[in-house]
Amino acid sequence: MNVLDIIDKKRLGKELSYKELDYVFNGYLNGEVADYQMSSLLMAICINGMTDEETFALTKIFVDSGDVLDFSDIPGIKVDKHSTGGIGDKTTLVIVPIVASLGIPVIKMSGRGLGYTGGTIDKLESIPGYRIDLTDDEIKSQVHKIGAVVTGQTADLVPMDKVIYALRDVTSTVSSIPLIASSIMSKKIASGADKILIDIKVGNGALLPTKEMAKELSDIMKRIGKVYDREVRTIISDMNTPLGTSVGNALEVLEAIDVLKNKETDNSFVDLCYELASDMISMALGVTKIDAFNMVFEAINSGKAYDKFLEMVRNQGGDVRRISLAKKKVEIIAPETGVLAKVSAIGVGELALRLGAGKVNIKDKIDYGVGVKLNKLQGEHVRKGDVLATLYVNDKEPVYEFDEIFKIK
Ligand code: URA
Repeated sequence: MNVLDIIDKKRLGKELSYKELDYVFNGYLNGEVADYQMSSLLMAICINGMTDEETFALTKIFVDSGDVLDFSDIPGIKVDKHSTGGIGDKTTLVIVPIVASLGIPVIKMSGRGLGYTGGTIDKLESIPGYRIDLTDDEIKSQVHKIGAVVTGQTADLVPMDKVIYALRDVTSTVSSIPLIASSIMSKKIASGADKILIDIKVGNGALLPTKEMAKELSDIMKRIGKVYDREVRTIISDMNTPLGTSVGNALEVLEAIDVLKNKETDNSFVDLCYELASDMISMALGVTKIDAFNMVFEAINSGKAYDKFLEMVRNQGGDVRRISLAKKKVEIIAPETGVLAKVSAIGVGELALRLGAGKVNIKDKIDYGVGVKLNKLQGEHVRKGDVLATLYVNDKEPVYEFDEIFKIK
């Protein structure tokens, strides 16, 4: 087999066999295929797509590249949830304790972010002491003890995805539906989930710009689920405006705590948390979504969900009392009265990134205390002089164009 022939075949839009995909992808993992050759194949896949058979083959190659975890000794159906990523998306921090507080075991292995803001793991690291590197044995022991774990992906979980994702990130080949599907589904299958819930984001702050593309991703993920005999449910949610009121790691943890304490009750972030948690519960227990919804209310109102969050954080060494924000605050003021017609997800994400909340390059250091707190959300009425947002700033100056983030009509 020859790498160039395989790249050429995909360039011409032909279907690659399992053996051909295996040859190039494993060749890349082993250092026998060069970055530029792999990049070229990824771009050909991006442009010409993949058939179902190719996508199933690639998912298998990804899964087989590392360990497949087995949590079958933990009683109950383990439902895993994944988001394709968005600005201000801290849903995991809320829904894991809700679901676990109802006696449903949740093991969540999350990733870091690259780009606009941190991933779930970066957010959790803004809690001083919180360990994100639990071993398989520690994960099992914590799930047995308290029923909830959120930790980083172990090094041997789909190592193929780590190298391919890093290359996709710097070659503009992230937003390919078959590549996203095999990347996400391989990690969910390898991490031992019985059932899988995927939150597919659509909009200017998401990987996919249109609902049609999100539907296509949803369909192929469900078909991959069938191959592995795993139920897959999907939710398609908006990412044109940030999720909730905070973008920035410590700010987002504090917002998640407010939702768990029932202090923040009325925005699209809270709605999405309730929706996702209800789906996870209904999948795990086989109850209707309405019954599951009532259980979510009860978990929040009784304080059990917040207690579970604290228990999980304590077990992993963290202390929420020590979370700190940047001391300097800069306000963005409404220049006129009207309706806040736009609060752009990408605009807020880029601003948070410039303040240091995310990484531009792998080696950058995240500043956990900086970020953007939205005082007004898209659709609200604002008066001239109102504070639209408060920026938490350390050493990086806030640089932004008002019109790229907000529009008042
Ligand atoms: N999230 C992932 O884990 N993989 C992708 O390819 C895209 C989003």
